Amino acid sequence: MHDLLLGQVLYFTGDPLIEGPAAARHIRRGAVALADGRITAVGEAEALRAAHPQARVHDYGAGLISAGFIDAHVHYPQTAIIASWGKRLIDWLNHYTFPEEMRFADPAHANEIAARYFDLAIAHGTTSMCSYCTIHPESVDAFFTEAQARGMRALAGKTCMDRDTAPEGLRDTAQAAYDQSKALIGRWHGVDRLGYVLTPRFAPTSTPAQLSALGALWAEQPDCLMQTHLSEQVDEIAWVKSLYPQARDYLDIYETHGLMGERAVFGHAIHLEPRERARILETGAALAHCPTSNTFIGSGLFDMAGLVAAGAVVGLATDTGGGSSFSMLRTMAAAYEIAQLNHHPLHPAALWWLATGASARALRIEDKVGNLAPGMEADLVVIDLASTPAIAQRAARAEDIWEAIFPTIMMGDDRAVTSVWIGGRKAR
Ligand code: GUN
Ligand code: ZN
Repeated sequence: MHDLLLGQVLYFTGDPLIEGPAAARHIRRGAVALADGRITAVGEAEALRAAHPQARVHDYGAGLISAGFIDAHVHYPQTAIIASWGKRLIDWLNHYTFPEEMRFADPAHANEIAARYFDLAIAHGTTSMCSYCTIHPESVDAFFTEAQARGMRALAGKTCMDRDTAPEGLRDTAQAAYDQSKALIGRWHGVDRLGYVLTPRFAPTSTPAQLSALGALWAEQPDCLMQTHLSEQVDEIAWVKSLYPQARDYLDIYETHGLMGERAVFGHAIHLEPRERARILETGAALAHCPTSNTFIGSGLFDMAGLVAAGAVVGLATDTGGGSSFSMLRTMAAAYEIAQLNHHPLHPAALWWLATGASARALRIEDKVGNLAPGMEADLVVIDLASTPAIAQRAARAEDIWEAIFPTIMMGDDRAVTSVWIGGRKAR
């Protein structure tokens, strides 16, 4: 039995970051057919209706049907401390983040926040994400249990910290990081639509021994992703230098401990040295751009245009709760604003791609999600391009699809999310 979703349809045949809007396809009265959790056809509404006379029809009118949003870097345990005032990175971690993450020693708290996080993510149209958990293995179980129940393609890992720069009560050891991560891989990696991600928090909260242990585990489990933070804030980089005086630069610490490669995802990567940039381009490691976080925590301006032109693999991410929103629409808006400050405005097609296909590519799941095409998994959002009076009055003046979409990118939020489909099932 097919489901047939009718509306405006947006998908991509190439990379609009490189090719511009010519890489996008828009069907004004289109349809997407779904069966058994996958997309079976994308095309004109009339043609697909005729081809699927028995299908259950869901007519979204002028709603825009797209691949679901993919958040390439998020901390689900920080859900309840989002929008905490007045601190820059290191103080923000010590003052707000670490005390909250300590509460995840209680599995009941982890379960409650995981459920709350997924409710919020789905309400905002996010159908896949790559999340940090806390040092507690139970926080990983809580995340994957919730994602599995909702049938989602989701990635996450136990955040590892064993250095006295992290507070007592939020530290493991090199051996525990290895053993617990390995056990969690056995329990969750490749189960249903779930994937495990090795997750040393960042160089300053790990000893060299812990980074080496996780590097060794990655070598044993090379099909896992590895995620961490890189060069987010100038003060952080100075701190890293003082803790690792022999390192050539920040990235060198990860490289020398076996934590660099094509399946690495580095959050932020704002203040890169030329050597770091060259190594990232050479290896094809992915970068997660976290624009609301970079302005909220006061970190700096990511060089999207320069990195993309050089061939970098870049995804888009909320970095909740350093980021100030659960919405990938708001995150696209912030990416646009940062690109403006860099004098390289991003086209709406490129912004939409960053939140879907580009993030999928950064997470190495682009053959499964992030676009609409036959055979892809059926994770979709339906977006109302006139969800508030302010957006509606601007969209009414639109002369093409991009002018119709851009007001929702700049001013939209969860009110714009009409419907969400996950694995071929209506989740909202
Ligand atoms: N660097 C290390 N940990 C974190 C975190 O939780 N959030 C952000 N934004 N940066 C980090
Ligand atoms: Zn982060």
